Order: sequence, then C-alpha cells, then structure tokens
Amino acid sequence: MSVSFEITSSIQNYRVEIANGLIRNYRPDTTDYVILCDAFFASALSLVHDKVIPIQVSESAKGLDQISSVIVSLKEVGALRKTLLIAVGGGVIQDIATFTSSIYMRGIPWIYLPTTLLGMVDSCIGGKSAINVGSYKNLVGNFYPPGKILIDPAAAETLGQEQLVAGLCEAAKICYARGRESFAEYLRLYGLHDQKLLGLQAIIELSLRSKKWFIEKDEFDRQERLLLNFGHTFGHAIEGAAGYRISHGVAVGVGMLAAVYLAGLLHGGSLPDRAQQLRTHILSLLNESAGLTDVMVSLSPLELFDRFEADKKHTDVCYTLIGLSASGDLQLLQLPKLPESRTLINQVFGEIVTNEFWERGFSPLE
Ligand SMILES: NC(=O)c1ccc[n+]([C@@H]2O[C@H](COP(=O)([O-])OP(=O)(O)OC[C@H]3O[C@@H](n4cnc5c(N)ncnc54)[C@H](O)[C@@H]3O)[C@@H](O)[C@H]2O)c1
Repeated sequence: MSVSFEITSSIQNYRVEIANGLIRNYRPDTTDYVILCDAFFASALSLVHDKVIPIQVSESAKGLDQISSVIVSLKEVGALRKTLLIAVGGGVIQDIATFTSSIYMRGIPWIYLPTTLLGMVDSCIGGKSAINVGSYKNLVGNFYPPGKILIDPAAAETLGQEQLVAGLCEAAKICYARGRESFAEYLRLYGLHDQKLLGLQAIIELSLRSKKWFIEKDEFDRQERLLLNFGHTFGHAIEGAAGYRISHGVAVGVGMLAAVYLAGLLHGGSLPDRAQQLRTHILSLLNESAGLTDVMVSLSPLELFDRFEADKKHTDVCYTLIGLSASGDLQLLQLPKLPESRTLINQVFGEIVTNEFWERGFSPLE
C-alpha cells in the first residue's frame, strides 16, 4: 500500500511517498540526472544508470574536506545547474547530498531515497545537513530540503540488526516527543511487528507524521523542534568517545537512557509511567544491538564529560540539553555551569559505563 503526504516548508514544499518497491521500480522523469549513492548500492544502480557517484560511507565521508571531491565528481560527470541529483543511502549520504546540492553551482534540485531505517523514520524530512569539520561532528550545515522523498521500506531488508535498532530508537524518540498518543501508538505498532519488516511501513509513517508537526511549526530549530534533540547531547559524546563504533541512532538511544537517568536524579527518584515505559522499551531495543555493553564499559567517563562539555548547544553559563520534566514531558534543560551540575553529569556518565547499569536495567529509581 502506498502512502503520500506533503511537508510545508518556507524553502519549498515537498512530498513524501512510502511504498514497498519504490527503489527497485524508480525511473527518473528526466534524462538529466546524477545518482549519488552509498557504495553498497553502486553496482546495482550502475547496471541501470550511467552517471553514478558512489561514496564509501563513514563519518569521515561527511567531512567538509570530502565535500570538495564530491563537487569535483559532479563536475566531471557533467552536472549543470538544472541537473537533478538523486541521493540513495542513509544519513551520511543525505547529509552530503543536502549540503552539496545546496552549494553546487549555487544550488541544484535533488531528491532523496533513504535506505537506512534512521533515514526513513527521521532524517529524510526536515531539510537539515550536518557536516563534520576536523574532529568536530555536525559543526556546519544548512537547510535545503529535497524536492521529493521516496521511501521504500523493503530497502531495510538488507540492514543489520544494529541499524534496525538505531532507526527504532529515533522513531521512539520522535513519537515520545510528540506526546502520549503518538508514543502509545508507536508502542502498539512495535508490539505488532516485533522488528519484522512487515510492520515497518506503519512505524515509518507514524514517526514522519509526528516529526512533520515539529518541522512545520519550527522549521529552523528555535523552539519546538529542539525537543527532537532528546538524547543527542549525551549521544554525541558517547558516539565520539566510542570512535563511531556504535551507530548514531544507537548512541542516541543510550543518550536517552542517560537523560532519563539524569531526570531520576533531578526529580528525586520518581518518574511517571510514560518515562518508565520509554526507558524499558529503549533498553530492550538496545539489548538487541550486539556488543554494545562491551563498547560502553570501555569508555572513559572523563572523555565523555569533555565531549559533552564541547557540545555546540551549551551557552557560556549553562549546559543546554533536552531533559524530562517531573511529569515526563520533554523540556529544554539549562543547568548552570557550576560544580553541582558537573557532579550530576559525571554521575550519569560514571553510571552508564558500568556493567551493572546494563545488567540491572540501570535504574536509580527501583
Ligand atoms: N541531517 C539530519 O537531519 C540527520 C539526522 C540524523 C542523523 N544524521 C546523520 O546520519 C548519519 C547516520 O546515518 P545512518 O544511521 O542512516 O547510516 P549511514 O548512512 O551511516 O549508514 C550506516 C551503514 O549502513 C549501510 N547501509 C545503508 N543502507 C543500507 C541497506 N539498505 N542495506 C544494508 N546496508 C546499508 C551503509 O553502507 C553503512 O555501512 C550520522 O552521520 C548522523 O549524524 C543526520
């Protein structure tokens, strides 16, 4: 079954289409196009299309220095101002495609076919690019949404378990952020599909419709949309300290657990059922991500704190992150840069690198 809806944007409105087989059956409606893809798909795509630029996906592939070689490749295959760039891949390809198509010849049209679950449930809409500079993750970027997004849930069939977990962590986050009904519906759908692909289309649609509310209300990330950064301040520190051995969505999942733990400390140990449900669900998802505990217990709390402190969202005087209110709603949390706040954050990092945290389900509340 095919589902389609529109995203309103001040840059350009764009359509999202979700249906099995969209990638396999896709034929561009122009002859003037170039495909920028994850190298995983390069040989299959090269059988059908002439101009294919493959990228070996890694965090360093979306470094600012690497963008210039993508630009050179576009020039060498003859891309002009009206050439359509078709991006096929996960979040890394999306970030490269968004950024490159926004600056190549001052901007060319592009469309996106996400192939990771994270790309399908989350990053494909919203129009953001995030490019690494040196060792700093996502330090530069802009907004340049694609003209169209074609989501083929069947593309997720070849993903490993860690990638499925990563996508589900982000979907759970978005639905939780949207509110009680959305999160309850997510848990219901998750219960039905049990991580098998059949139910994925419904979860993708729910997650994107939930995210649509945030990006249409606050396209440029100034207020409501900031809530979608839940799990990210801890998550980016974890991802970086782990040397990107765990995928982005999984690190965000751990970051959400860290934020729930912090909420327990801040609110005297009690959290409402909804937050407990989130914690239980994320823990059970992360249990499916092989080797995560080994990576987590190898991390240094000191390094984690240093990376947390370097996050771009903090101000001179406050640590800024998305936390939980006593009633379980997400909220912007500003902790003064004082020894008490550092002690709290260090307590969270000290906890999540222990075997006990992962063995007992980590709760300070039980
Ligand atoms: N701009 C945004 O709004 C935004 C939002 C979230 C995340 N991101 C970024 O996205 C990146 C993470 O992206 P991701 O998790 O989608 O993964 P990815 O693009 O890093 O790909 C992960 C792995 O999956 C492989 N892969 C991709 N599709 C596959 C498929 N269908 N079958 C088998 N293997 C496949 C890739 O080759 C790679 O090895 C991070 O850099 C993160 O910062 C950007």
